[in-house]
Amino acid sequence: MQEIIRELEQKRTEARAGGGQRRIDGQHAKGKLTARERIELLLDEGSFEEWDMFVEHRCTDFGMEKQKFPGDGVITGYGTISGRLVFVFSQDFTVFGGSLSEMHARKICKIMDKAMLVGAPVIGLNDSGGARIQEGIDSLAGYADVFQRNVMASGVIPQISVIMGPCAGGAVYSPAMTDMIFMVKDSSYMYVTGPDVVKTVTQEVVTHEELGGAITHTTKSSVADNAFEDDVDAMDQVRRFVDFLPASNKDQPPVRSTDDPADRQEMSLDSLIPARANKPYDMMELIEKVVDDGDFFELQPGFARNMITGFGRMEGATVGVVANQPMVLAGSLDIDASRKAGRFVRFCDCFNIPIVTFVDVPGFLPGTAQEYGGLIKHGAKLLFAYAEATVPKVTVITRKAYGGAYDVMSSKHLRGDVNFAWPSAEIAVMGSKGAVEIIFRADIGDADKIQQRTDDYQQKFANPFIAGHRGFIDDVIMPHNTRFRIAKSLRMLKTKQLENPWKKHDNIPL
Ligand code: HXC
Repeated sequence: MQEIIRELEQKRTEARAGGGQRRIDGQHAKGKLTARERIELLLDEGSFEEWDMFVEHRCTDFGMEKQKFPGDGVITGYGTISGRLVFVFSQDFTVFGGSLSEMHARKICKIMDKAMLVGAPVIGLNDSGGARIQEGIDSLAGYADVFQRNVMASGVIPQISVIMGPCAGGAVYSPAMTDMIFMVKDSSYMYVTGPDVVKTVTQEVVTHEELGGAITHTTKSSVADNAFEDDVDAMDQVRRFVDFLPASNKDQPPVRSTDDPADRQEMSLDSLIPARANKPYDMMELIEKVVDDGDFFELQPGFARNMITGFGRMEGATVGVVANQPMVLAGSLDIDASRKAGRFVRFCDCFNIPIVTFVDVPGFLPGTAQEYGGLIKHGAKLLFAYAEATVPKVTVITRKAYGGAYDVMSSKHLRGDVNFAWPSAEIAVMGSKGAVEIIFRADIGDADKIQQRTDDYQQKFANPFIAGHRGFIDDVIMPHNTRFRIAKSLRMLKTKQLENPWKKHDNIPL
């Protein structure tokens, strides 16, 4: 028995050594942590339960039978974050560059299956040279097995991908099908084909960083939802993020105790809206003053900045926040903003997270670039997402809510549960000047007349009361009471039950 125990210890030590000290040093020299160090930072201390430490590949080509590393380049298992169960896989770049083999894939599939069975999130720490080249089709089959599970798990359990090194070729498609992608600045990149292939095919010369680095994917492509400074920061932020999420679609978001009173008044909000209608203000100030303790986890902060999306808490419970940002493009809805918010609304709806929407939107962004880019279909994504969402929806119109964008932004007509307006709200088909120039086209040469008519239109429509007369908004509230009114609404909506008609799945305009 002693001998077997010694042998077990020996095997464990070998597995923990990954690809050996030289490669571990190489990983550290690149400013990266090892797969195990990352897990230690991610999970509560001592909570990690590892599986499949002794799994080895079965490849016998290219002398591979002589190169075996226990665990085969990925560490898998489960543990807790703030005491709540999560499953995790962490690719070990020191073993065949973290490349995905048949057995490596099987390990990932095993924890995904178990996560689905018990209802808990899966967090993937990706650091991999892609398909294990020596294995060929077995590796491709392994990827497809993971992809299939990503799709089956979508909307059932939260799936989070953290890109912490290379992620190339087919390897990007598993993260792409998960709910969130986070990257690490300067040490991670994602692309379908790398710079060399790009040069051969298109003659473009581009660096890894330019093609698929964290800045590219958080500001240009929107593939990634956020980028963090380094591995330590990334693990801290993922812990913080997971604290907002329910374990599965059958679970409710976690509730955390808070000392922040629900009826906290913010008198400064009464002067947030500038006197001039075209002057911007920072919507983020409102969000941070409304949510518990000013704690807001923003997603995609560097992309489509005319739209803010992220998580906060009200009375300790998670809420998804969607808000137009008047500081950028006057808060208008364009292709990028619609896609960003549409996906976020759907994520919230999948996971029972109530949605709070702050509206200051002058309309959809005009122009050929937008129309040729398919604004109609992309704008429809957000409309579709809000309309199908059955979670509690609370909306506050702070200033402009014009035209189709008024309808889209969680209006009463799309089953908004509680719709408030500030006294400064302007709910109309369009801005006064544009409206007058259309309905009084004959007067366009007469500046005084046009001004008079604009003033009339402004007087008549640029307020919340006409919508109030129709019951399209439930109340006009004082800005300083916004937090309390939202908190009370969400409390009332806790037991909301709403189901859409049975269908196989919908056909959202992709
Ligand atoms: C097997 C691999 C590997 C791979 C790297 N290694 N990638 N082994 N299969 N895909 C090994 C290397 O041989 C090396 O082994 C170690 O990992 C580290 O690699 P280096 O090249 O020394 O590291 P670095 O310079 O940091 O470059 C990392 C890299 C590069 C950019 C990822 O290794 C690379 O370009 N790899 C190939 C990427 C690729 O083309 N993958 C296939 C994509 S196609 P030693 O023993 O020296 O430590 C694909 C299809 C999937 O993924 C489709 C699914 C639908």
